[in-house]
Amino acid sequence: MDKVKLQHLLSEMTLTEKVGQLVQLTPGFFSAEYGDVITGPELNIDLGQVDVWQTGSVLNLSEKATIDKLQTEYLAQSRLKIPLLFMNDMIYGYKNVFPIPLALAGSHDNKMLEAIGAFLAQEAAADGVHVVFTPMLDVVRDPRWGRVLESPGEDVHTVKAYGSSLVTGLQGNFSRNAKIDMHHVAACIKHYASYGAVEAGREYTAADLSQYSLLNTYLPGYLAAVEAGVKLVMTAFTVVNGMPASVDNYLLSEVLRRQANFDGVVISDYNALNELITMGYSADDLAAAKAALTAGVDVDMMATVFANGIVRLVEQGALDVEYLDNAILRVLNLKNDLGLFENPYRGFDNNANEEEFAHLSIQATTESSVLLKNEAVLPLNPDKHYALIGPFASSPLTLGLWGSINADFSRVKTLDYSFKSAGYQYEYAKGYSLLNEKVLPVLGDMFKRVVDSNQSSDAQLASEALEVAKDADEIIFTLGEDFLQSGEAASKTDLHLAANQITLIKQLHGLGKKIIGVIYTGRPLVLTDVEPYFDALLLVWFPGTNGGLAITDMLFGKATPSGKLAMTWPRSVGQIPIHYDSLPTGRPLTTANANERFVSKYIDSPNTPLYPFGHGLTYHQDKLTCELIDITYQANTKSVQINCKVASDGQPIEDVLQVYVHQPRQAHVVLPSLKLVGTQRIKQQNEHQVTIDIPISELAYFDNQGTQHLDSGQYTFSVGLSSANLLVTSTVAIEG
Ligand code: GLC
Repeated sequence: MDKVKLQHLLSEMTLTEKVGQLVQLTPGFFSAEYGDVITGPELNIDLGQVDVWQTGSVLNLSEKATIDKLQTEYLAQSRLKIPLLFMNDMIYGYKNVFPIPLALAGSHDNKMLEAIGAFLAQEAAADGVHVVFTPMLDVVRDPRWGRVLESPGEDVHTVKAYGSSLVTGLQGNFSRNAKIDMHHVAACIKHYASYGAVEAGREYTAADLSQYSLLNTYLPGYLAAVEAGVKLVMTAFTVVNGMPASVDNYLLSEVLRRQANFDGVVISDYNALNELITMGYSADDLAAAKAALTAGVDVDMMATVFANGIVRLVEQGALDVEYLDNAILRVLNLKNDLGLFENPYRGFDNNANEEEFAHLSIQATTESSVLLKNEAVLPLNPDKHYALIGPFASSPLTLGLWGSINADFSRVKTLDYSFKSAGYQYEYAKGYSLLNEKVLPVLGDMFKRVVDSNQSSDAQLASEALEVAKDADEIIFTLGEDFLQSGEAASKTDLHLAANQITLIKQLHGLGKKIIGVIYTGRPLVLTDVEPYFDALLLVWFPGTNGGLAITDMLFGKATPSGKLAMTWPRSVGQIPIHYDSLPTGRPLTTANANERFVSKYIDSPNTPLYPFGHGLTYHQDKLTCELIDITYQANTKSVQINCKVASDGQPIEDVLQVYVHQPRQAHVVLPSLKLVGTQRIKQQNEHQVTIDIPISELAYFDNQGTQHLDSGQYTFSVGLSSANLLVTSTVAIEG
């Protein structure tokens, strides 16, 4: 439909039809038959004069037949035949689930991330979903916050690359204001802005940031996705620097709409507009509605604010209706960009290719799993007999929280299944129980169906596991955190393993056999106390539907894990927040002054983390050499080109070279000592020249007054295999 017709359509709408288009509910409000996937508080919604059949979009309905039915019913009742918009939390998968975003970001494989976005779009569109609430682009530095699972981690460059790749894959192109074909969907980035900076890592608390941090660390990821053409932005629940994000004129009207020129749809998070009243910012629906609509929010998710507030504001003449019409036009434009007016059932003819998923998901698990430790025990020897211990090895519940909402658990390939189908010699024992009833109510009953209803006691399970281990040559122990203990509403103060796991690890260690740990988790854990008991540690995060197949191939050397940590793993919660790109201090700790008092250090812990950002061993990494050929500034392309010669003594290697810039001396403010500005995945056996081009825009920064700078001068770059393993360093003059 062309713009003129859209304007005409708008002119025909009644006030309640207009407001209805700005309200989003879960499908149960239309009819109980549609059920409800509740991803927030259960609410009684009073829509005032707006009829539910006038509301413009639905969240978290899936299944083709159901969506088809509701769309048909809806259009039959729609006076102007404006199709219903279906949005869904398909964050990193639908029925087929990929590894969690905190894992995927560590692959540094933008081409693969784009392909993952495209597959997810295909699968979602095939069931009639139009918008997916992904990618989440909140920068995170605090693993106490359960939602680090959904984030691309602590580093700005990584978050920007992840977000742009996913958006391009999901929407089918890297351009603004483009139409979206039936094989793709609209992406909705979230949670604007800086939800990942919640105080003390506790869910839904406020974020208090300097302008320096907001502009240099927390906003660039969202703005890169806007540049990539993302169609929707979701506002955060949180208060940012004293203002609720959903009514913050600076963040929404100034930065997003004016500076970034975003003309897509802004949707609030679940019930966030009602919570303006709860937190005491707005007196009532009218105040909340006016504040949100005039700041730039277009859709009210699961709240009564727009339905009740806007109608009465207009009736009282207390609202400039241009705000209302602009919001509705943006919603109608979105439906139009998706081709819904021409075909409200767009996408139904798609079919997601299962073979493609199998290949892509195994590649994703392999490129995002992180080999944290390996004391010459991996790869495993297929001629040996192994004890495979721990419930993660046999449970399908290894998809992470959001991956479990729509997943088809029957498709999950566990480690136990994969060992068996590969014919390896092993015996499985559960060893310990995961979550049990006493923890579940604290986490809410988001997944009633998921309780580890262990029949045996921990002592019984441990005893059985020890018997199995005694007969084995080596032990593979699956450890970690139950999937319900990360994701939304799962903040924790203690990041150690559960006591039953630690007890059994120590008992198994007493057998004097090699122990290989496979870690399933949605967040960095504190493993300082158990790390010494393991000869190898492979972090698989929540590895997705085909995780077991990929992990088995990695363990037995058919593939090398090549993922890197997108988030620092601390030695203790006491170190948090801890991240690689911290600002320098005037009293840095060095080996020379380690025993002095007046130095930036702890008296009860090293400063260094257990595992640093960018860390990830690979098979034959010890053979990898990197020699700098040259580093030059390319004025014509405004970039720095780094040429290296990479060799590995004839051994096959797969790894990620990371380019860091050291703090330039001539900056207007103090900048991080080290900052990632580029990565390059390598896969080779013979000596290769590797060329990495770094756009100098990566060196731009904001001072603490909000002025952006890109300084000329001498810059020092390093190429390394982690933020703590720099191989070559050189300087180059750059014209800013
Ligand atoms: C949730 C989350 C958000 C999600 C939305 C819809 O509370 O904060 O990420 O997309 O509500 O389920």
